[in-house]
Amino acid sequence: MKQFQNKTELSRHLNTLKGVNKSVGFVPTMGALHQGHLSLVNRGLDENDIVVVSIFVNPTQFDNQEDLVKYPRTLKTDVDLLKTVSEDRIVVYAPTVEDIYGDHVESQSFKFDGLENEMEGAYRDGHFDGVGTVVKRLFEIVEPQKAYFGEKDFQQLQIIRKLVELHKLPVNIVGCNISRASDGLAMSSRNKRLTKAHRNVAPLIFKILKTAKAKFGTKSAKKVAEWVEKQFQKEPLLELEYFTIADVTTLKPVKRKSKNKTYRAFIAVYAGDIRLIDNIALN
Ligand code: PAJ
Repeated sequence: MKQFQNKTELSRHLNTLKGVNKSVGFVPTMGALHQGHLSLVNRGLDENDIVVVSIFVNPTQFDNQEDLVKYPRTLKTDVDLLKTVSEDRIVVYAPTVEDIYGDHVESQSFKFDGLENEMEGAYRDGHFDGVGTVVKRLFEIVEPQKAYFGEKDFQQLQIIRKLVELHKLPVNIVGCNISRASDGLAMSSRNKRLTKAHRNVAPLIFKILKTAKAKFGTKSAKKVAEWVEKQFQKEPLLELEYFTIADVTTLKPVKRKSKNKTYRAFIAVYAGDIRLIDNIALN
C-alpha cells in the first residue's frame, strides 16, 4: 500500500493516476480507525478507482488540550486494517503537523451561515474553524472528485457541504450512515478510552435516542427533551451535555414542528471524562 507523509510527493503520485483517468475519492480521518471509518472507505472504493485516506490528528480543532494529547495515535494498526480492505487501491496520507500548517499552527476563521454556532459549535470553541481549515487544505492537496463524511458527525457533514458551496470547491460531498456496535453505541475512536463501566452504560445513549424518536411522533420537542434529561438523571455514570432536536438544514433547534421540515435529534454526553456524540433522523 502506498503511504505518504509529504504533500508534494502525494500530489505527484495522484497526478500520475489522474493522468491515466483514475477517479480519486477521499476519506479524511484522524486515525484510530474502526468499522465506521472503513464503511466510508468501502463506499469510496465502490465509487472510485482510488481512495485516499488521510490520517492526521488535527491540532487546531481541539478545544481541550488533554483530549488532543490523549487522542489515540495508532498509524501502524490503522495501515494494517486498511490493507485488509485493499492493498492496491488505497493511498494513505499521514502528514506531519508541519506538512499541513508550516510554522503557523493556526486556523482560519470561517462563517458557515450560522451552522457553526449551534450544538458542537456552542460547546467547543473554535472547533469548526479548525475542521474547516484542515479539510479545505486537504481538499486542495488531494483534489478528489468525491469526499466521504459520516453522519456520526452530522453537523460537521453539513458544515463541510456549506464550506464547499461557499468556497465553490470542486468536490462532491457524500454523507454516509452511522456505524454502530452490536449494542447500538456509535463507533468512535474515543470509545477505546472508556472504562469498562462507562462502556457498559454507553449504549443507553442510542437507546434513549430511539425512544426520543418514537416520542417525537406525538409529543413536542420540549416534552421530548425533558424526558431525555430525566433519563440521564437516573444514570450517574453518564452526564448529559445537550440534547437538541434541530432542522437538518439550518441546525437551529425546532420551536414548532412543521410537516415539511426534516428533523434530527442530537446529543452530547460525558461518560467520565470522555465526550460522546450521537444523532438520529426523526422523520
Ligand atoms: P474522525 O473522527 O476520525 O472521523 C473521520 C470520518 O469518519 C468522519 O467523517 C466521521 O463522521 C466518520 N465516522 C466516525 N465514526 C463513524 C461512525 N461510527 N459511522 C460512520 N462514520 C463515522 O471527523 C474527523 O475525524 C475530523 O474532524 C476530520 C474530518 C478528519 C478533520 O480533521
